[in-house]
Amino acid sequence: MTTPTWFDPRIENALIEHVSPEDEQGYFVYQLDALKAYLATLQQQDVIKLWFAVKANPLSKVIQTLDHAGFDFDVASAGELTQVLAQGVDPGRVLNTGPAKSKPQLAAFVKKGVNTFVVESLNQLNWLNEVVLEQAISVDKVVKPKVLLRVQLQWPEGEKNPLGGNSLTPFGLSVSEWQNIHVDSYPALNLCGLHIFQWGNMLSNEKMFSLWSQMVPPLSDLADRIGMTLEVLDLGGGLGIDYLAQGQMLSWSQVIEDLAVIKEKAGVKELWLELGRFAVAECGYYVVPVVDRKMNYGQEQLVLAAGINHLLRPAITDQPFPVKLLRAGQTDDVTSTQAFDLHGPLCTSMDTLGHFDLPNDIAVGEKLVFGYCGAYGFTESMPFFLCHELAAEYVYQDDQLTQVRAAKPASSYLA
Ligand SMILES: Cc1ncc(COP(=O)(O)O)c(C=O)c1O
Repeated sequence: MTTPTWFDPRIENALIEHVSPEDEQGYFVYQLDALKAYLATLQQQDVIKLWFAVKANPLSKVIQTLDHAGFDFDVASAGELTQVLAQGVDPGRVLNTGPAKSKPQLAAFVKKGVNTFVVESLNQLNWLNEVVLEQAISVDKVVKPKVLLRVQLQWPEGEKNPLGGNSLTPFGLSVSEWQNIHVDSYPALNLCGLHIFQWGNMLSNEKMFSLWSQMVPPLSDLADRIGMTLEVLDLGGGLGIDYLAQGQMLSWSQVIEDLAVIKEKAGVKELWLELGRFAVAECGYYVVPVVDRKMNYGQEQLVLAAGINHLLRPAITDQPFPVKLLRAGQTDDVTSTQAFDLHGPLCTSMDTLGHFDLPNDIAVGEKLVFGYCGAYGFTESMPFFLCHELAAEYVYQDDQLTQVRAAKPASSYLA
């Protein structure tokens, strides 16, 4: 098999040589030197401010690498905030997004020093205003947080997408709901921007530009109606990864060119993106052994030590992570492959990691490596079902594989 584009051959020997009984149910590896170099290329522009959407990968070492690369942090829960602050990040570099912010959570975030919020409901807006006033030492000493309103638009042509696309979601509010407020009614808040993000894993520069362009007029109009000077426009994430090897890759330089146009059209001082997948997917791998191989109704099946208990995404998106066999001296002979169904150990037919061509002599005990697992891998899984092990996480840096989290048996979480 030829080396796929998603696989960095520099890591191959380390993965082949890594033999550990604790990791026989699968482990993750993140290639930090490669991540660092890649993030530096993302930062070579002055059009957009980049935040890292922590949900994509909250591992300490990953957050630290993003921190050193000059990213700030989008957190969507108290757990993510704690993890980011534990890495020494100043709370002033944290943005809080998410549809489930209670008043106590907003109060706790403000108390910890977070001062940038994306609010997603009228309640959140009112609660945040109240919380800031309640915590101020005096009325004239209010530290106003920066606040962006999250807007949800609908397009006539309609399309579904994991982030909602055109369907109704709890992410933000429609223009007709927001237009009834006025910024002057929230004296404790610096209502300075709008946030919009409805399309995930976009692979076409043209389509992204077209969607972004269509967003500008209704957003500018909304800002005018509510008395907001639109200083910040946050376009969320959504930049895609070619999981299915369809030859569709986003061009970053084109993204920057397009966003310069959007920034100009919207007339904003700052344009923000919160990157998840596009920042970290490529640096991560997941390695798992084959525990059984069988022919069933004419179909070759491989049963793996772990499946959606460690990598849930394929089951919820129908997009498998790409895979290859880890084998020393694997040749480029493409004629010796055949199609396999890959299954995990759970007692549900949903536990499948895809249908792939792999070498036909693949044997029980050999290991597969999945790519693009640096985002939405370890923490977007369902590890508890059937009492399997929690996966270990490693980083690969300076030619060394270092364990950050050890694998944990079910006894560590069962009561
Ligand atoms: C508010 C917000 N911003 C950014 C992201 C990151 O998206 P992506 O991984 O597509 O870059 C998400 C993902 O769900 C999100 O909810």
